[in-house]
Amino acid sequence: MEQGYIAVLDSGVGGLSVLKELIRVIPNGRFLYFGDNDNAPYGNKSINELKKLTAKNLDYIKQYNIDALVVGCNTLSLSLLPFIKEYGGLTTFGVFPPVEKFLVKDEKVLLLSTLVSASKFSPSKNLHVVGLKNLVVDIENNLFNLKNVNFEKNLTYSTGNFISQKGYYDTLILGCTHYEFVKNQIINHFCPQNCCSGAIITANNVKNYYQNIKSLVNYKRFELNFIGKNADFNQKFWVSSGQNV
Ligand code: DGL
Repeated sequence: MEQGYIAVLDSGVGGLSVLKELIRVIPNGRFLYFGDNDNAPYGNKSINELKKLTAKNLDYIKQYNIDALVVGCNTLSLSLLPFIKEYGGLTTFGVFPPVEKFLVKDEKVLLLSTLVSASKFSPSKNLHVVGLKNLVVDIENNLFNLKNVNFEKNLTYSTGNFISQKGYYDTLILGCTHYEFVKNQIINHFCPQNCCSGAIITANNVKNYYQNIKSLVNYKRFELNFIGKNADFNQKFWVSSGQNV
């Protein structure tokens, strides 16, 4: 049987940061990318709205021969993964902010995410959680000139408490896959010692699955297709932002 695709789904371009890590660890994979840019941001929507959009998008993606689905979106992974697995009936991987990994060390951790994702975490003395209302829209609107994104201004439209003093946080977790594209601005603001996201962990989980369940030996050639209404737009951004690996 023909080798199936690894499909990556997000509200827009954010999942491209996950796709990049996937290609790094599975260089001979066949990939599909679906970005629902018209409906971004997902992070301010109700669970019911997200369910409807996701069901429609899964129906679309399932027209293709899919080996695995990677939900390249923290918001969907944190709030709808069981629904996506059941509705899609596909081998599914989510992307999650690696919060537990850092909390055990008694470090000062700052998690930045969408509002939906932020609502899934309980802040504590060591974990500060900030939900950013408009940053994804700001990124989607300025894709071809990311310098126009104003992270500091976005911080003023946020929920949660944080300490702005540079270097206060040991670890900064980017809990939204879109934030990878303005990572330098965010790092310059907080100056943490580490900055991480869930993308590498997810990519390694997918790689392990392929190594254990499906022999990677049979995977012969790299392929990447952008699908859906916004395929050209996402492809253009992929190329222009140097994500080509
Ligand atoms: N990039 C997605 C995430 O990781 C979705 C962000 C959004 O559309 O609000 O949460």
